[in-house]
Amino acid sequence: MRIVLGVGGGIAAYKAASLLRLFTEAGHDVTVIPTDASTRFVGVATWEALSGHPVSNSVFDDVHTVNHVRLGHEAELIVVAPATADLLARAATGQANDLLTNTLLMAGGPVLMAPAMHTEMWRHQATQANVETLRSRGITVLEPDSGRLTGADSGPGRLPEPAAIFAAAMALAESSGIPGGPERAAASGPAGPTASGPAPLAGIRVTISAGGTREPLDPVRFLGNRSSGKQGVALAAAARDAGANVRLLAAHMDVPAPEGVDVVRVETALELRQAALRASAESDVIIMAAAVADFRPAETSATKIKKRDDTADPVISLVRNPDILKELVEVRDTASRNQLIVGFAAETGDADGGVLEYAEAKLRRKGCDLLVVNQVGRDEVFGQDTNSVVILARSGSEPQEASGSKSDVAAAVIDRVSAELSRVQPPG
Ligand code: C5P
Repeated sequence: MRIVLGVGGGIAAYKAASLLRLFTEAGHDVTVIPTDASTRFVGVATWEALSGHPVSNSVFDDVHTVNHVRLGHEAELIVVAPATADLLARAATGQANDLLTNTLLMAGGPVLMAPAMHTEMWRHQATQANVETLRSRGITVLEPDSGRLTGADSGPGRLPEPAAIFAAAMALAESSGIPGGPERAAASGPAGPTASGPAPLAGIRVTISAGGTREPLDPVRFLGNRSSGKQGVALAAAARDAGANVRLLAAHMDVPAPEGVDVVRVETALELRQAALRASAESDVIIMAAAVADFRPAETSATKIKKRDDTADPVISLVRNPDILKELVEVRDTASRNQLIVGFAAETGDADGGVLEYAEAKLRRKGCDLLVVNQVGRDEVFGQDTNSVVILARSGSEPQEASGSKSDVAAAVIDRVSAELSRVQPPG
């Protein structure tokens, strides 16, 4: 596959060298177009040596080959990494003031942009509006990773890891039907579902909550639950591998967040609610896999509650937390948003009804589109590596069973999500 790799002027430009290696080692023919600014971080000689092609960033080099038109025309895939705030702005406004932006305007195939910048720049309304514009034109703009940035600061804005960009690029090529693209990469490129599998969620924004909330009693104590976050993390990885832009709202988890997803850390149900409502407007799919505390202490002591012999033992009174899932459905319906919402339920049967009966009632009560139900009771589910679920749909279609590792279950849920999306919005 003929790939153009655009490199923007940020410190993360050095990571584009690893990305270039992944492409070339997978047998792809890559022409690198660095911006002027980026050559202050990584020089032209590096790109020429690694790509085996001459490298220019000027529309006035090799004019006889009409480079500014030819490169975009011939590229089967264009990947821009890192995409700086400036580059996103220039692409969104259709500027053509260097070879890379000319090439983007001439693009005949799919374009993937991997942003990297400081958190404030990424969150700025101007950047978000540019990203929105680019996405509305069919360009895949990945969510940046969260973590340590250039200075002491950290937050969303890191360039996704080269392997994740590679996987997203291959998935995009596959979903765009580029002949000989990902198949060639799969033969020799890094392993991973997206290197060879389809990308049913390319360009889809998926928000997933995971883990258990912690409700503070005082600065050292909290009410928590046994959720490990494993199922939510597996869902995030499965959605990422299906090509989605994933945001993980991570409450307390025993496992690390997967690479290549945007992570927002939360502690309490109220923090999760705020993060979920904020993410809602930018999500095509929301999956609430977090174990949200139904109650929180009515009061949180600012100082450690003391053991005292001269007073009665403290009594903790609780108040109800808002039902976030239900609220997300209400917000979606009020805003007439086209959004798929998935809930989870841990149910037990009793003398009055079976697990599925209770789950169906919950599906109706919450109003979500899909409810993934697991049977709890013994030591299954929480913290375990395997799971067995039934997926119920509001549309009334047959309940679907899935079991195996939490990754298997996640893949089944993500498959079902893609099927529901294509039912609601047929491709094209
Ligand atoms: O009502 P129940 O806790 O059984 O519902 C589970 C589902 O609802 C999960 O998807 C969970 O993430 C979500 N939930 C919520 N807000 C709550 C409680 C649960 O969003 N306060």
